[in-house]
Amino acid sequence: MIVRIGKRTGRLVRLFASVDATKAEEKPRSYGNISDQDRIFSNLYKDQDPFINGALKRGDWYRTKDILSCPQDFVIDEIKKSGLRGRGGAGFPSGLKYSFMPKKSDGRPSYLVVNADESEPATCKDREIMRHDPHKLVEGALIVGYAMRAKAAYVYIRGEFWHEAQQLERAVAEAYEKGFIGKNACGSGYDFDIYVHRGAGAYVCGEETSMLSSIEGVVGKPRMKPPYPAGTGLYGCPTTVTNVETVSTVPTIMRRGGSWFASFGRKNNHGTKLYSLSGHINNPCTVEDEMSISVRELIERHGGGVRGGWDNLLGVIPGGSSTPIISKELCETALMDFDSLIEAGSAFGTAGVIVLDKSTDVIDAILRLSKFYLHESCGQCTPCREGTGWLVDMLERMKIGKADYGEIDQLYELTKQIEGHTICALGEAAAWPVQGLIKHYRPVMEDRMDKYHSQHPVVAEGPFSSHHPVAGSH
Ligand SMILES: Cc1cc2nc3c(=O)[nH]c(=O)nc-3n(C[C@H](O)[C@H](O)[C@H](O)COP(=O)(O)O)c2cc1C
Ligand code: SF4
Repeated sequence: MIVRIGKRTGRLVRLFASVDATKAEEKPRSYGNISDQDRIFSNLYKDQDPFINGALKRGDWYRTKDILSCPQDFVIDEIKKSGLRGRGGAGFPSGLKYSFMPKKSDGRPSYLVVNADESEPATCKDREIMRHDPHKLVEGALIVGYAMRAKAAYVYIRGEFWHEAQQLERAVAEAYEKGFIGKNACGSGYDFDIYVHRGAGAYVCGEETSMLSSIEGVVGKPRMKPPYPAGTGLYGCPTTVTNVETVSTVPTIMRRGGSWFASFGRKNNHGTKLYSLSGHINNPCTVEDEMSISVRELIERHGGGVRGGWDNLLGVIPGGSSTPIISKELCETALMDFDSLIEAGSAFGTAGVIVLDKSTDVIDAILRLSKFYLHESCGQCTPCREGTGWLVDMLERMKIGKADYGEIDQLYELTKQIEGHTICALGEAAAWPVQGLIKHYRPVMEDRMDKYHSQHPVVAEGPFSSHHPVAGSH
C-alpha cells in the first residue's frame, strides 16, 4: 500500500504519521546501496514499457486524484518535509521555492516551467527519465503545478533531444487521452495543460530567465534579477522553473510520504538521486542511489571502478562540468552531497560525475571545458564574454608550458574577476573548473612550464610579450 491519503467526513486526512525526518536525530551510518523497492525511477534502463501501460504497472497515476484533493499548502509542506532540494544544479530547497508562488491571483495566470535543457557536459540523467519513464515527469508536472496553482506547464526540452521529445509528447498525449491532464485533470476539478516546447540547443537557455525569453520567442539571454520569475516570469506572469528530476520525484514523495524521502541521505542532503558516471571508469552509467553515498563507493559499486584501479585515479569532477575538480586524496573521503562537496572545495551540482585517470592531461581537459563556456557565453556581460576567451588563451599556452609561474596567479585572478560579476551563473561555471585546476594541479602546470622553457631556453615570456596571442582576441 503506497498511497496514504484518504477521505473521511468530507475532509482529507493523512493516514500516516507525518514525521519530519529532516529534524530527526541522525545516527552515524554509511549511505548508499538502496534497495530496488526504494528506487523512484524503476524503469531507468527500459526494462519495461515506458508508456502508459507500463507506467500504470509501476504505480504512476495511482490515486493522483486524491493527491489533487489535498490543499495546495499540504502538498508544499510534504515536499518541504521530504527535504527535496533542486536537482538542476543549485540545490535550492524545492518546497520553499514552490511556496514563493502567489496564493491568490491578481488576475494573471501562474505557470510552471520544467527545465529539460540538460546541456551541461557530463549531465545525462533527465534524458533517461524522458526516454524511459516520461509519465513520472507528466504526473510530477501536474502535482507540482497544482501545488503552485499554475494554469499550465511548459516543458522546455533541448532541441537535440529529438527522441526524448517524442517520448515525452507521446506520454503527454496519453495523459490527455486518459483524462489525467487537461480539463478536470484526473476528475479533480482542476484544469491543467502541459506543452512541450523544443529549444534550439543553446546551453545558456538552461538558465531559468533565458529559458523564459526563449519560450516567449525572443533571443534566449539571461535577464537581470529582480524581478524574480515567481513575481514576473513567463509572459510577465508568476512562474517557477524547476528541473525534470526534481519534478519527477514529487509523485513518489506524495505517495510514500516526505518522511520516507527524508530518511535517505544526511541532514540537509536528503533523498535518492540520479548520478551520471562518465570518464575513465569501467561502466559509465546513470544510476539511482542514496544521497551522501561516498564518491569512492559510487565509482566502485556502480561505475565498475576506475580504469586501471583506484590508485590510477587522478581526480574527479563531481557535479557536472562546471564544478571544480577534486584530487584523489579528497575523493577518498568525500560524500556525494551538497555539504560534503562544498567542504571539499567543489559542488554537488547535477551529480554528473567525470572520473579522470592518470593518463589525463588535466590542463588540456580543463581547457576543453573552458572552450565550451567560451562558445556558450551569450556575450551580455563583459567579464564573461571577454574573460572566457582570456581563460582559453592562457590555458592554450599553459597546456604547452609556454607561460611563467606568475601567470598561474594571473589566471586565478582572472577567474575571480569573472566569478560573481555577471548576470547569470555561466560566469561561475567558467571560472570554477580553472580554479580547481590551479588548486590541485599547480605543480603539473609548473612542470609543464619548466619542460617548455628547458626546450626553448631563449623564450621566457610574460603575457604582455608581443609573441603571445593577445588576450581577448577571440
Ligand atoms: C548557464 C546555465 C545553464 C543551466 N542549465 C540547466 C539545465 O540544463 N537544467 C536545469 O535543470 N537547470 C539548469 N540550470 C539551472 C536553472 O537556472 C535553475 O536553477 C534550475 O532549473 C532550477 O530547478 P531546480 O530548483 O529544480 O533545481 C542552468 C543554470 C545556468 C546558469
Ligand atoms: S554570464 Fe555569460 S552567459 Fe550569463 S548573461 Fe553574462 S555573458 Fe551571458
